[in-house]
Amino acid sequence: MGLGARFQLFARQVKPKSRFAGKLLLLSTVLGAGVTLSAQAPHPLTPAEQQHIDDILHKMTLAEKLDYIGGTGFAVRAMPGLDLPALEMSDGPYGVRSNAGLPSTTYSEGIGLAASWDRTLAGAVGAGIGRDARARGIHYMLGPGTNIYRSPRNGRNFEYFGEDPFLAGQMDIGYITGMQGQGVSATVKHYIGNNSEYLRHDSDSVIDERTLREIYLPPFEAAVKQAHVGAVMDSYNLINGLHATQNPVTNIDILRHDWHFPGTLMSDWDATYDAVGAANGGLDIEMPTGKFMNRAKLTPAIQSGAVSEATIEEKIRHILTSAEMFGWLDRPQRDLSIPLYDARDNAIALQSARESVTLLKNDGALLPLNKQQIHTVLVVGPNAYPGTPVGGGSAGVVPFHLTSLVEGVGTVAPAINVLYDPGLPTLTDLAAHTDFTTAESGGGAGLTEEVFANQDLSGAPQRQLTPKHVNNTGIGWDSISGNLDDLMALFDHEPAATSYRYTGYFHAGQEGRYLIALACGGEGNGVRVLIDGHLVIDNWKYVRAFEPHLVLPLTPGAHKVVVEAWQKGPIGGRLRLAIKPEDSVVNPHALELAAHADAVIVAAGFYNNHDVNTESEGGDRTFDLPFGQDELIRAMEAVNSKTIVAVTSGGAVDASGWIDHTPAFLEAWYGGQAGGRALAEVLFGEVNPAGHLPITWERRAEDNPTFHNYYPQDDGIAVQYKEGIFVGYRGYEKNGVQPLFPFGYGLSYTSFSFAGLKVTPGSGPTLATAEFDVTNTGRRAGATVAQVYLSEPGAREPRPAHELKGFERVELAPGQTRHISVPLDARSFAWFNPTTHNWTIDPGSFTVSVGESLATLPLTGTVNISPSTARAASLPR
Ligand code: BGC
Repeated sequence: MGLGARFQLFARQVKPKSRFAGKLLLLSTVLGAGVTLSAQAPHPLTPAEQQHIDDILHKMTLAEKLDYIGGTGFAVRAMPGLDLPALEMSDGPYGVRSNAGLPSTTYSEGIGLAASWDRTLAGAVGAGIGRDARARGIHYMLGPGTNIYRSPRNGRNFEYFGEDPFLAGQMDIGYITGMQGQGVSATVKHYIGNNSEYLRHDSDSVIDERTLREIYLPPFEAAVKQAHVGAVMDSYNLINGLHATQNPVTNIDILRHDWHFPGTLMSDWDATYDAVGAANGGLDIEMPTGKFMNRAKLTPAIQSGAVSEATIEEKIRHILTSAEMFGWLDRPQRDLSIPLYDARDNAIALQSARESVTLLKNDGALLPLNKQQIHTVLVVGPNAYPGTPVGGGSAGVVPFHLTSLVEGVGTVAPAINVLYDPGLPTLTDLAAHTDFTTAESGGGAGLTEEVFANQDLSGAPQRQLTPKHVNNTGIGWDSISGNLDDLMALFDHEPAATSYRYTGYFHAGQEGRYLIALACGGEGNGVRVLIDGHLVIDNWKYVRAFEPHLVLPLTPGAHKVVVEAWQKGPIGGRLRLAIKPEDSVVNPHALELAAHADAVIVAAGFYNNHDVNTESEGGDRTFDLPFGQDELIRAMEAVNSKTIVAVTSGGAVDASGWIDHTPAFLEAWYGGQAGGRALAEVLFGEVNPAGHLPITWERRAEDNPTFHNYYPQDDGIAVQYKEGIFVGYRGYEKNGVQPLFPFGYGLSYTSFSFAGLKVTPGSGPTLATAEFDVTNTGRRAGATVAQVYLSEPGAREPRPAHELKGFERVELAPGQTRHISVPLDARSFAWFNPTTHNWTIDPGSFTVSVGESLATLPLTGTVNISPSTARAASLPR
């Protein structure tokens, strides 16, 4: 039996008996025989442990208390006099990005994991990361990230679990339960309203109460209430006018009072902005250091009565509760019985990549490729080699080994001749060959560069230079990935603000369409490009994309190019500008190889390296693929009719330029260390694809329900979440917009049928149960995702046409049928009433729809919820 099937079997058999019992049983499943770490799963505190915390607090001086609530890099500080060890932290979320720069097993990133719809796989991944954390002495892992996908532009979507709150919550429960069973606290992040990366310190997410409760909070709520997460991380942004780290509504009213969260609430790194605000606003510990929550700032506040000492003690109590919950005060966290390189986890990493691959188009059953008929295959594109295991930024885990698609295809199909070409030049190469002159005519080679000692190009320039090109490496997130000490050193040394202006002339040889591509820094940087006086790229205030690009018609002759940029803070200075005729961007060699090959696999998508970040923390990304890739896909399709496109991305991309001519198309997400191998297995049919979209894939950027309000209006900071609860598929359905691929969609090499839906009233917390049969009607073994949606057609309040309320990943042999039963609890039927500030069920008739995607729901049934059932339902906030 395969890994996934084995986990699924156990998941169904396991019914948690007590608050924490489910964890223990699930863990023994995930870990397999011979590994017993379940005794270290978190537990509710005993009276003796409560007393221990009181004793520690009693011994602490005020100064020590204030020291304790400011971090030290990636740790809660040690207090040897009080027998308190340092509590170490590490980024994840899909591997341990350790402080010492050590590699670790790297799993499929969040969005890919969500595409598996496999809770038990999420548990196995969480457990694997937990083991790696124990081998490295880490107490808190800084993940999972579970912010809702509002728009494909958000640079960190790849870390999160997609657009649906129920699916995201289920993935959180699996991941956190698996991880915490190893005695490691998960840290669910970024709480809350952190749904974009531009202006991330200053943007104000303006979200109404109902929308917060129904869409953005539920994944965090599931992590707290159902997975008993040990820690929560507050985000950078403001929520309804107040920064997350000093927002008593979200930190105290919701997290503590409504959800009864007992553990550690930490800030994101450098996300604290006010000492008294944070102290009274519910934050427990400021990371990475106590820049605000420190002795100097809080002692006077306590003396003046602005902050009470009891409030400070409460914070320490929360941190120590996490410590007691996981037994950190009773044993060393580093477990020397776990190998640093744990080969057992390679199988889980591979499985996570396999289950994530999502087949979206397969005309004429081009896939799987037939090894008998295909003798030569070209693997081409920027993501073909060396592969893109992770997105950029703090989630950039470094794997011990990485299988690229080129190697994956070579391994899976050793008899086939595998040709390779990157297909496109790098942006660095292009920028190095983009020539300028300093004057329209008669100038020297290069551009005039003026450097200003301020952020806004004001006054006289400090220096003047004449570089040949705009091609600076700067310091990118990738430069420090894997070594967090270097990162800390950078934050300690904040350079003064600088701005630059480059002015030069580009000479177009002939009339035509020219590709203009820019690589730039994220957070703490701004840049704009003007061509012939027209603003063509504007990242001045908002980092709209790390690698913006466009195609512009140019006439022959000189064109004035001005690039203006500013930098503040340690990461930045990266600036590369390339201009090239669109029709000459694809490597000619790739075209020759494509003509010679029996099939072409284009490995397209986003990537992060020392050259450029394209999808990363600290800035957003383009909806279209990085520069030149649309041209590459079209060129390959023109030469070879068997062209397959596989995209690496954290969400939808603009496929409109080629999808109609692309016979086969897959989303590979970021597959971790084994992504190339897993994709090759799918392409050649060794693995039957079963990924289903955790997002809706739009045809055009403007179809997205947030398109008109993704950025603040009037160049300000307030992001109005005007679409309200109609995010993702809820919005497409409301607006009557057909997406390119609907939520929940994914093809297989076999086919499935659904039959016999029965919806019966439930008892206890289950208000109804949906039962039905799923059959594999094809000739291959495979898996589908049975999705259960609810709607209330006669609802008095605006409600989405469908809402996901249950699902089950079903693995079936050819001809096999399985009976599936999905319970629907009170919350499945409820909406959040902003007048009463409570969850409410409006009695009436609800429709239950079941199928393989939002667009394929062959079964429907109804269930009536009576007024007495609605009144009696338990719906805690
Ligand atoms: C990120 C967090 C991360 C932290 C520590 C921040 O910039 O937003 O997700 O955990 O850095 O690296």
